[in-house]
Amino acid sequence: MIAGGEVTVPGDKSITHRALFLASLSGGRCTLRSPLAAGDTRATAAALRRLGIRVGRLAEGRPVTVTGGGLRPYRPATRALECHNSGTTARLLLGLLAGHAFASRLTGDRSLRRRPMARVTEPLRAMGAVIHASEGERLPLSIRGGALAPLAWRSPVASAQVKTTLFFAGLVGGVPVSVTEPVISRDHTERLLRLLGVRVTVQGTTTSMEPADVLPAFDGDIPGDISSAAYLLAAGVLAESGEVVVRNVGTNPTRSGFLRALERMGARVEVRDRWVSLGEPGATLVARPAPLGCVEVEPDEIPSMVDEVPLLACLAARAAGTSVFRGVGELRVKESDRLALVAANLAALGVAARAEGDTLIVEGGEAPPRGRVVTAGDHRLAMAFAVLRAIPGADVELDDSRSVAISYPNFFRDLSSVLHPS
Ligand code: S3P
Repeated sequence: MIAGGEVTVPGDKSITHRALFLASLSGGRCTLRSPLAAGDTRATAAALRRLGIRVGRLAEGRPVTVTGGGLRPYRPATRALECHNSGTTARLLLGLLAGHAFASRLTGDRSLRRRPMARVTEPLRAMGAVIHASEGERLPLSIRGGALAPLAWRSPVASAQVKTTLFFAGLVGGVPVSVTEPVISRDHTERLLRLLGVRVTVQGTTTSMEPADVLPAFDGDIPGDISSAAYLLAAGVLAESGEVVVRNVGTNPTRSGFLRALERMGARVEVRDRWVSLGEPGATLVARPAPLGCVEVEPDEIPSMVDEVPLLACLAARAAGTSVFRGVGELRVKESDRLALVAANLAALGVAARAEGDTLIVEGGEAPPRGRVVTAGDHRLAMAFAVLRAIPGADVELDDSRSVAISYPNFFRDLSSVLHPS
């Protein structure tokens, strides 16, 4: 397998969600260039439209315009807000609706309806929102917002979704909010807020936000998604020769743990042509083939690579030695139980892999992976195992690959454009 080619990955999913929501709270018309046009961000755009916000069509390679209506701009939706597969849409919306004095109902697909919401409903109730959820504090749920109280919250999980939800509630409710996390999670919201003139400070693992009177309208380029780039870079590392160039990738340190782990495994990704957009650093990344060694990842590193752990586990399956990922319990409550499925799927491909409590252990080997992968409709599992499928001699069947449309609709086109049979 020879690697070769240049790809520009789609816009960052996390930043696109945040930019759409913040634009809706701004004082006017915002233009976002290179947003992610995929299932998850379409769910956010559609929910905003149902709440009375003018949001243009999200389409690949096209800018989107959002007309903000000030800090409390939403009107009651006539039907339930359908968040589909997107946990970010559901949780961040709850924060925004907590400051609006009307009732809303939120629902989602089967995967989203099994994901925990207590991590946001509990603090939002402490601020004053009235929330009724189905059993186990999951979707569908209803929320009635109103006047909110300030909040200082200690989150048991390092979660940017939790932090952002509470900051959004503080913004709409006009009250200060501080969130203490076990480890600092991705800080895209903080960067955007600062850019818009909101005072955000960090002390240790506590991030605090002061309320603002207005958010100005803004325009900007959404950086490419490092979580999408990671699959192409991994393919470049596993190839026998050549190089994969991925342009326009966000390299925010709170998101780029994948690159650091890869380097420890013996594959240094070259970073060139650095730039900054919307307060986010970015660059062109170049991956070249490298023999991989095993890696040990500690719990405080996980938030910076949480969505890349399935891919790193697939790479660990090709590395010399036993890799250990500690503190990956959060993977159980992502779009699927990723911890159980990564271990089971690797095992189904002939790799010695197992989950022990919150630890994932993968023994590397050289035999080509062969077998059937169950993705449970999870986009990241489909993409991670598609990379293993490209190894010479591999015979990997994916039960379903349509889920890539959640975050990277052109994934298979881009992957095949950088890999060529030797
Ligand atoms: C996201 C944060 C992460 C990540 C998810 C997107 C975000 O979740 O897994 O895909 O946009 O804030 P947690 O912050 O809950 O770990």
